[in-house]
Formats: sequence, structure tokens, C-alpha cells
Amino acid sequence: MKRNSGPVMAQAPPNIALLKYWGKRDSALNLPVADSLAVCLDDFHTTAKMQRADAPADSFVWNGQEMGPPYRSRFQRMVRFARERSARDEVIQAEIKSTLPPRIGLAGSAAAMSAFALALSEFFDMGLHSRELSALARMGSGSAARSIPDGFTWWHRGHLTDGTDSFAETILSHDAWPELRILLIILDTEGKRVSSTDGMVRVAQTSPHFEAWTHQCNFLAPIMLEAIQAQDFEKLSSLAQSNAQTMHALCMTAQPPIVYVSSATLRVLEHLEELRRAHPLFYTLDAGPNPIVFTLDGSLSTIESSLAASFPRASVQACRPGPGARIVKGNGAIK
Ligand code: DP6
Repeated sequence: MKRNSGPVMAQAPPNIALLKYWGKRDSALNLPVADSLAVCLDDFHTTAKMQRADAPADSFVWNGQEMGPPYRSRFQRMVRFARERSARDEVIQAEIKSTLPPRIGLAGSAAAMSAFALALSEFFDMGLHSRELSALARMGSGSAARSIPDGFTWWHRGHLTDGTDSFAETILSHDAWPELRILLIILDTEGKRVSSTDGMVRVAQTSPHFEAWTHQCNFLAPIMLEAIQAQDFEKLSSLAQSNAQTMHALCMTAQPPIVYVSSATLRVLEHLEELRRAHPLFYTLDAGPNPIVFTLDGSLSTIESSLAASFPRASVQACRPGPGARIVKGNGAIK
């Protein structure tokens, strides 16, 4: 059997949820209570390099720092799965480099965990197909399941207890909607105070609205799927923005309440509502203060200039839908 002896490298993009994942039916495997939909970005990739180490223990270095808990145990969980599946036991050295700061609510961990999952599968010659890879990435971070396949994705919540039916797949390829533009508005790069993992647990345990939220997401998934596949911007706008607003409102109904937005976020959202009167635009927010705007190419430059004039300290980065995770060839140097 062929064995990878040298280093392997994989790259994966962040993905932005249009229908949010917020709630787990199994915390160890990151199995969600509801389906979710997202799109991969064509920029801000994370690279993971993996090689054999002559050392007593695995090492996981992310952005130059050896990982401690909670991330270390997530990487270890995936490695255990790879060892069992491949019946191999090499000690590994993994180096991960992200271009977006982690924990700012902009899918940094999704990109890292999916790049790591693909590198792992290549290193251990696991021969996984896309659905299995997506499920492996999910063990690292739920949303990472959606950074494996190309473009717009649907992550099925699945029903099995082992999680094998909880994976993401492409519903529209990244180049099928060429007018779509995605703007990351980075207001704050400080890490969030409550992690997504903890936030989901607190909401599930204390919010009286959690069950209604879950039902609503599962009801909306096929409707949003249709809007994406029909490239119906208007319909997607109202569905996606309202879903993000609902998720943040839900977080505020937890005890104690979780507030991810800041006063700067609220000022930007007001400004976006003004711009929305004249331009095709909607926004979403992950578990952090940094809004993400979806628009069409004809309105991009007006929106960018307007944001630059009103929020000179914000960094605004324009992206398009992008492909999923891939193996990268090279001489082993991580850029
Ligand atoms: C708000 O995937 O980071 O971005 O599975 O606990 O690692 P864990 O959570 P994570 O949660 C992402 C939450 C979100 C919404 C989304 O991406 O769907």
C-alpha cells in the first residue's frame, strides 16, 4: 500500500453561514440540531502542513503557537479517528497558518479544522470521499464541515448517533453566481468573550426560544436552498438577514444574556439599512461583532466607498464565493 512519507499540505477557505448553525444534539461529535447553509470564500485561506515526527507526542502548532485546550483536544479527536481508520500510528507534527485572526467570529476555526482534516486524510492515505471528509472536519469544529465542499453548501444535520450522515455538500458551485460579492467588515480583532461552543450550550440550556429556533432553521433550509439555486438575491436577502438577526436575538434571551455585537456593529448595521434602500444588499453576523455584507458587483464600489467614508477605522475586504478545501503541492514551505 502506498504511504505518504513526505510532508502534505492542504488549504481550506472560511465559510459564511447564510442559515446559521447554533445548537448541538451531540457536543463530542459536533452534531447539530438543525440543517445549515453557507458559502465558501475565495480568500483568507488557512494552510495545514503535516509530517511525520520522531517525537514522543503529536504537536499542533497554529499561527506559531503550540495549541493547548480546547483546540488541542479537537485536533487529537480527529487524529484518533485517522489512526483507527488507517491502522497506522505515526506521530505527527502539524503546522497551521491562518490569514484571518481566529475567534473573531469570522470562521477562522472552520478554515483551520477543514484544512487540518484534509491534510490528515492525505497523510494517513485514508481515501475519504468528500462526505466523509466533511464529517471528519465537523469533529474539529461543526462549521468546518462546510469548508470541505465547493461553493454554496448544505450541512445536513443527520439523524444517526455516529454522525456519518451529518456532512455538508455543494448545492451550487462557486462560479455559478459570478455577480455575488461578499464584504467582510472587520471592526474588532479581539477574541470573542463567549466561544460559539459555550454560547450554543448556554442558549440550549437557558433560552425559552431555543426549540422554536431549531424548528425554524429546519423549516427554512429547503426554502433557502431554492433561493440560492435560483440565484434569487431578494429572497435570499430577507431569509438570511432575518436568520442572523434571530440568532443574535436568541443569544440575548440566554441567562446570562450573550451579546456578540458592539455599539460599532450597531452603527454599521444602521448605515447598511440606509444603503439597502438604494442597493441590493443584506448582512449577516456570526458569533462576533464583525458584519458580513452580501451584494452584487454593480453596487460593490458604492458600498465600499460609503463604508470607507463613514467608518475609516474599519477594514473592509471584498471576496467572492470560492472553492472548498484542496491539497496544495509545493516544496513543503508554509506561506
Ligand atoms: C455563529 O463551528 O465555531 O458561526 O462546532 O462548537 O466549533 P463548534 O462551533 P462553530 O460555530 C459556528 C457558529 C456560527 C454560525 C455558523 O457558522 O453556522
